[in-house]
Amino acid sequence: MKSADLVIRGLKQLVTCRGPIPKRKQAMLDLGIIEGAAIASAGGKIVYVGPDKELDVEVKVAPGGVVLEACGLVGFPGFVDPHTHLPFAGTREEEFLLRLRGATYQELAARGLGIQTTVRATREITTDELTRECFSRLTSMLLLGTTTIEAKSGYGLNLETEIKQLQVLQELRKIHPVEIIPTFLGAHEVPAEYKNNKPAYINLLVNEILPEVKEKGLAEFIDVFCEAGVYSPEETRIIAAAGRRLGLKLRLHADEFSSLGGAELAVELGAVSADHLIHVSQKGVETLARSNTTAVLLPMVPLFLRLGQLPPARRLIDAGAIVAIATDFNPGSSMTESMLLVTQLAVFLLGFQVEEAITAATANAAYALERHDRIGSLEPGKDMDLVLCSIPNYIHLIYHPGPNPIVHVFKKGKWVVREGKIRLN
Ligand code: NIG
Ligand code: FE
Repeated sequence: MKSADLVIRGLKQLVTCRGPIPKRKQAMLDLGIIEGAAIASAGGKIVYVGPDKELDVEVKVAPGGVVLEACGLVGFPGFVDPHTHLPFAGTREEEFLLRLRGATYQELAARGLGIQTTVRATREITTDELTRECFSRLTSMLLLGTTTIEAKSGYGLNLETEIKQLQVLQELRKIHPVEIIPTFLGAHEVPAEYKNNKPAYINLLVNEILPEVKEKGLAEFIDVFCEAGVYSPEETRIIAAAGRRLGLKLRLHADEFSSLGGAELAVELGAVSADHLIHVSQKGVETLARSNTTAVLLPMVPLFLRLGQLPPARRLIDAGAIVAIATDFNPGSSMTESMLLVTQLAVFLLGFQVEEAITAATANAAYALERHDRIGSLEPGKDMDLVLCSIPNYIHLIYHPGPNPIVHVFKKGKWVVREGKIRLN
């Protein structure tokens, strides 16, 4: 008999996404669904997942424990968002209108707009104000069922502001229930003051900013925007190698606007993920399929930028690549914090099956952050990161877009969204 301090019973369905993880090909279709389910945890760790009718023989509720009668709700693992640019200041709606009138993302960048606009704003904002902004963004995410995110710097592009962004993430980890995994993206753009001297910026990045990030313990990953006109594959290698020497793991913005062999480079360098992949080559698809590098697709970006080209999701899945999805939450190319929306777009726009999209937003997304031993699926020993939805079955998560079906969210066993309302401490 196991003792539990949190029991949720009477679930219509429980989507467990149970392992083995990562899931490739057909395995992505297997959601490990339990009909008429219950789930229980102790100290934030799951101790029981199974049929409701066997709960009473397996689990006893500890004194003072909470029992929630879920009355026909459907449960999922908390969404994991493995690619966000959370700590940015200001928004870019004017540039959004310029793009709708015909300007391209690259044209705006060449005029010193785009990422540079956000860099100017992020350099100016105070640490406290940035923390407040991010806190409320995290709360929006939680209300939409996201319990863990990756978050990148990259709107500072100098020592002071890159550190400021990462320190804000550090502070948020202490005060907000959404779990944050920090990535250093000093190579997101070339700052305006180094426009004619990129080697000098790379030098600053590698010899000053990066060591400071490491010394202060502010990042787990390093990321590079490997793109025509930004960082070439050769420059990406130099920056990635410097990160590796300091013990940071690699992720790459790869093949977003042009085909530079970013996917192949990510695999060669042992990157944990290669993200975007709108212009990945067939060789890149095959290389990813043979590797353990996760292909992180960002379905909102081609839609938001009206690119007219989509990442080859079907080819990646069918070839056997590990595929995850993410929001890419940022003010320029994907102003959404909703993994729910992204999961729907994966189906409507990229050709995922419903089950594949759910796997890509949970189990495989956890793998893309090297956290699959603890989150992304509901199994004994893992964290009680649980989302409860008011829908008749799991298919309605995609089939019925528009309303937010999420009524309760638990993070590490803490009841953080209750009846659709946030509840901190
Ligand atoms: O992932 N591609 C580079 N970075 C972001 C966009 C950032 C921005 O426009 O502010 C992306 O799409
Ligand atoms: Fe991005």
